[in-house]
Amino acid sequence: MKGVTILGSTGSIGVSTLDVLARHPDRFRVVALTANGHVERMAEQCRRWRPDYAVMADEEAAGRLAGLLRGEGVGTEVLAGRDALSSVVTLPATDYVMAAIVGAAGLMPTLAAAQAGKRVLLANKEALVMSGDLFMRAVRDRGAELLPIDSEHNAVFQCMPPRFAEGLTGHGVHQILLTASGGPFRDRDPATLDAVTPDEACNHPNWDMGRKISVDSATMMNKGLEVIEACWLFHTTPDRIQVVLHPQSIVHSMVSYCDGSVLAQLGNPDMRTPIAHGLAWPERMDSGVEPLALAGVNLTFGEASTQRFPCLGLAFGAARAGGTAGAILNAANEVAVAAFLGGRLPFPDIARVVADVLERCTVVPAADIGTIMAADGEARRLAGEYLQTMGRRN
Ligand SMILES: NC(=O)c1ccc[n+]([C@@H]2O[C@H](COP(=O)([O-])OP(=O)(O)OC[C@H]3O[C@@H](n4cnc5c(N)ncnc54)[C@H](OP(=O)(O)O)[C@@H]3O)[C@@H](O)[C@H]2O)c1
Repeated sequence: MKGVTILGSTGSIGVSTLDVLARHPDRFRVVALTANGHVERMAEQCRRWRPDYAVMADEEAAGRLAGLLRGEGVGTEVLAGRDALSSVVTLPATDYVMAAIVGAAGLMPTLAAAQAGKRVLLANKEALVMSGDLFMRAVRDRGAELLPIDSEHNAVFQCMPPRFAEGLTGHGVHQILLTASGGPFRDRDPATLDAVTPDEACNHPNWDMGRKISVDSATMMNKGLEVIEACWLFHTTPDRIQVVLHPQSIVHSMVSYCDGSVLAQLGNPDMRTPIAHGLAWPERMDSGVEPLALAGVNLTFGEASTQRFPCLGLAFGAARAGGTAGAILNAANEVAVAAFLGGRLPFPDIARVVADVLERCTVVPAADIGTIMAADGEARRLAGEYLQTMGRRN
């Protein structure tokens, strides 16, 4: 029986993870669930799963949850605050950690899980984008297992040779081909993007996801973050990664080999597949996802343009720059996306904010967590400044 802690259990990945766990009560036990402020959903999950701990990062929300659960006689211990996120992942009872907090808030507990030598199921790509070198060193030095949950990276992982960590060239890998649906605005006239609303941007044609990653998919910053994530996960450089437009989201990604072979992983677009893969690896288990019916499936592929999707170009630039560039890109993007979702920034300006902040920040080696958090803070400050200046102009 493996003990599972879910960081971000009330979100889209968290809920899908619990759906997979519910199919295998003989294999997994829920040790801890965590969220930010979504008390009602967390209370529901505690009633159903009876975890040892529930953490709310928001202290006021923790108080309300504790009151609710006490009143109902649910014995789950409620912990409050950000530090408690890191303490539940390091519990001896926790074997596997699903890292599914959105954004930079996921970095510290996800890193703590790697440092504690756990199996880390990584959905929170932002953690790796910010701290790739540090994170991968922690995984290696502390004997943690890192299983990619992002559908693209999970697909690449499945198509990689077993000893890829020794170096891709030595094992015949030519390129990683990351597929991208192109999001809801793939074919939209760029001149009309000023008018798009948050709901339109979050209306992804193939995937049902949280709002931040949905906006990132619409700008293709999500694919850019994935390029950086892939560099770290698969020990490679951005020039060995190609982004391929594939509107159907059936081929989740591919690996091309020096003998001309291209291996692909296909499936219905449902995150329960990579989640079940990460939980069961190296075995396989039922995920609840219907097998792909290939008859009538029409697969098309095209080029992803960095002119149409400037965020993708900015992310490739940050991947090449290395050091704190990933943390800067990520922080500026988080501020810009929050402003867009809050109705304070037009959609095309997300890329402008990120470009402006990248230009004004100095990239230094990401030697330690202090340096990374300082870069994150500076980028957030500069992005905030950009928004204020813009507000004054309008
Ligand atoms: N959704 C997908 O299909 C998908 C696919 C691939 C990768 N990912 C990655 O997985 C991660 C989660 O995505 P999602 O779509 O599941 O996001 P989501 O639906 O927005 O859920 C985010 C989760 O994080 C929690 N959270 C937010 N801010 C927090 C904070 N400051 N401290 C602690 N917890 C916090 C939320 O709690 P509350 O509910 O209380 O706010 C919620 O449980 C992201 O990094 C995303 O890029 C997602």
